[in-house]
Parts: sequence; C-alpha cells; structure tokens
Amino acid sequence: MKTVYIETYGCQMNEYDTELVRAVLSEHQYRFVENEREADIVMLNTCSVRENANRKVYNRIHTLRHTRNGDPVLIGVLGCMATNFRKSLLDNRQLKIDFIAGPDSYKRLPNLIRQVEQKGSKAYDVTLSEFETYSDVYPRRAGGVNAWVAVMRGCNNFCTFCVVPYTRGRERSRSPQNIVEEVKRLSEEGFRQVTLLGQNVNSYRYEEVDFAGLLEQVSRVEGIRRLRFTSPHPKDFPHSLLHVVAENPRVCKHIHLPLQAGNDRILEIMNRTYTQKEYLDLVDNIRSHFPDMVLTTDIIVGFPSETDREFEDTVKVMEAVEFDSAFIFKYSERQGTIAARKYPDDVSEEKKTERIVRLNEIQKAHSLKKNRAHIGQTLEVLIEQESTRRSPDDFQGRTDGNKLVIFPAGNYRTGDFVAVKITDATAHVGRGC
Ligand code: 5AD
Ligand code: SF4
Repeated sequence: MKTVYIETYGCQMNEYDTELVRAVLSEHQYRFVENEREADIVMLNTCSVRENANRKVYNRIHTLRHTRNGDPVLIGVLGCMATNFRKSLLDNRQLKIDFIAGPDSYKRLPNLIRQVEQKGSKAYDVTLSEFETYSDVYPRRAGGVNAWVAVMRGCNNFCTFCVVPYTRGRERSRSPQNIVEEVKRLSEEGFRQVTLLGQNVNSYRYEEVDFAGLLEQVSRVEGIRRLRFTSPHPKDFPHSLLHVVAENPRVCKHIHLPLQAGNDRILEIMNRTYTQKEYLDLVDNIRSHFPDMVLTTDIIVGFPSETDREFEDTVKVMEAVEFDSAFIFKYSERQGTIAARKYPDDVSEEKKTERIVRLNEIQKAHSLKKNRAHIGQTLEVLIEQESTRRSPDDFQGRTDGNKLVIFPAGNYRTGDFVAVKITDATAHVGRGC
C-alpha cells in the first residue's frame, strides 16, 4: 500500500476537498499518513486567493524531499493554484512537480498517479466541470466536532478582484436529498455540528429548492444540534433565509456577511452589485429580526484607485455596524481577474499597510466591546479540543455565535455541550468557568 501525505492551504472549501481526496484515494488502496517523512506521495492542496497564499506554497514545494529510503517520492499540486499555474508549475524545472489536479479532477487522481508511476511522465488534469459536485463521494473526515458539507461549488459572481470563478469554475448545486443523506450519516457518526459551504450560498438552487429551503430541510435531521453556513453574498440575501436563521433554534445566530468595501464607487468597480446603503439596510433588517445576531465580515483595503476619502467610507460602515470580528486583507492583484486587466494596482504598499492597521485597531475595539458584553452571561459552549492558548487543563470551544471560549476542563469531553459562565474577555477569546 502506498502512503500519502496531504497538506491543506486556504479556505474551508479546501479542507473539505482534502477530505474528498482522502475518500477517493482510500478506495484505491492508498493509506494516509500524518507525517511527510512516511509518505510515498506528497500532495499540497493549494489556494491562490491572495499572493501570500501562493508564495507560501512555492516556498513549501522547495522544502519537500524527493526520495524516501532511496525510492522516489511523488509530488502533487491540487486545488486553486493547479488551475492557474499548470504550465508554469510543470515547466519550472526547479519545482520538480509530478502531477497536478484541479478542484474538479479529484476522481481522476488514481489515474494521474498511475500515469506518473508507469510512464514516468508528468500528469495533469485541470479541466473545470459544469456538473461535478462529488455527490457520490462521502468525504473521509479527520474527526473533530464540526463537519463541513459543500452544498455547491464554483462561483458566477465575478467580483473583479477574485480569482475563484477562474480556479473553481461555474456554480453548480448538489441535490437537497443528497445533502440531507450526508448530514444524516454525519449525525449517526456522532457529529453535532455541520457547516454548509458554498462560495455564495445564496446562489444555491436545485430545482425548486433555494438555500433557505435547504437549510430548513437540513435542520430537521435528528442529532444535529448546530447548523452553520458560509458565506452568503449581501446582494441577494433573501428574507426567507433571514427568517430561517432567526426562527430556527438549530441554526446558529451568526452571519458572515462580506462587506469588502464601504464606498459606492469602489463597490461598483469591485462588481459587488450593492451600495453602502443597501448593505447597512440589510444589517438593520437582520438586527430587527434578531438584535443579538453575531455579524462578521471580510474587507479588502487598497483596491485599485481607492482614495483616502473613499477608504473613510469603509471606516464609517465598520463604525456603524460594529462587527463581532472581521478578516481584513490588503488588495492583492490576481492574474486573469477583471481588476488585473482593468485597474492598475496603484495604491502603495505603505498606504495599504496604514489602512489595514487602522481597520484592525477599530475591529479590535469592537470585538473587545462585543466579547465583554458577554461577561456574566452563561453560554452554551460546544467543546472542540484542549486549549491551545492556556494549559492542557483547559478546554476550548465555541458559542452559538462562534465565539471562542476557554474554561477549566472538568470531567467533560470533546463534543460535549456545556454551560459556561463568562468571567472575562479579550478581543479574541472569552474566559469562563
Ligand atoms: N485580494 C485581497 N483579498 C481578496 N479576497 C478575495 N480576493 C482577494 C484579493 N484579490 C478576500 C475577500 C474574500 C476573502 C475570502 O478573500 O475579502 O471575501
Ligand atoms: Fe470571489 Fe465574489 Fe465569488 Fe466570493 S462571491 S468567490 S469574492 S467572485
């Protein structure tokens, strides 16, 4: 039996895809190992959403060993970098890559590997499919308390900064029956939390069923106590979805709502198709249904031509909304995107740094304020693991609103739901007992 080691970069969709790859190869007599040194085949499941994700992988490839006990080790590149960089990855003699598989080609991995082994040639398949949803593959999960379930793949939105529509192809949805079957199986296996994944879950549609309908169906699966999803696009957030989130006790009260920018001109040239006012109205609408809804976001600073005054609109929206947390990124030009073709990356690195530092400070204050508001409350926490931040005598877990909480271990186990009284909080974590 050949041994395989796989390393995952980037988003949760990639984590899920790694689980698909494990399932596909395990059916073909490959055994997965936790350590690169024990592997006959090493695969990197890559991300190309920003340049530093790319760079990380290039650096990593250089550190990989090419032999084990005198035998060759095969190196494979999977995921988003595979699609865009097939040529340069394979042609670059210094990189020594044996095979490449794009996000829709994982079922062909056994063939690709065989091709390399038997013919000694390099092999690749980066064809993007309009149909592949892997609905016939049951992911081999590493364990833990949360299970990711992709409900759709690809993206049709073409936000001008984003490489995803090119690396992952067109939108396609899995059938609700197929998703519900998977979630039932997860429940039987003991998972208590499921996170539904899609690049834009609001584009989910299968015959008559939209995402709100799907969420409702999945929430009826016995044994699943917490249901999460990520991410909805602010442009098409339907009332029915808000209703399901606000009213259904199993659906967590947390919405990740990527803002990207607060200025109307920038939103327009990003092709986000909503205005600042529409975004703020949506937030008001969400809060009028559920005042304590946890809201998180993604923001990009230094999109081409963003002026200081336009940047202030992003600050304004942050101050108005007070997100619970935010992922803030410097704009990173991606080859092949509309922004790369139309708008020169003209905001200086210093400016981008200045803006990201400013937004991170604002966010830190908001996160602290939101987290401290929980002090004195008793919250239900799903235990995820021993604490990585304090001592092994502590556990860490998450609240319904996805807040990290650390508390003394007691006699609990991973996967238990416990009531924790919050006694202290920082911008990143709550402490409890
Ligand atoms: N530059 C910077 N950030 C980006 N994102 C996507 N593309 C880029 C880019 N070219 C961010 C967006 C998105 C998140 C997943 O990554 O904020 O929501
Ligand atoms: Fe990229 Fe926009 Fe699609 Fe998200 S919705 S994956 S940011 S193109």
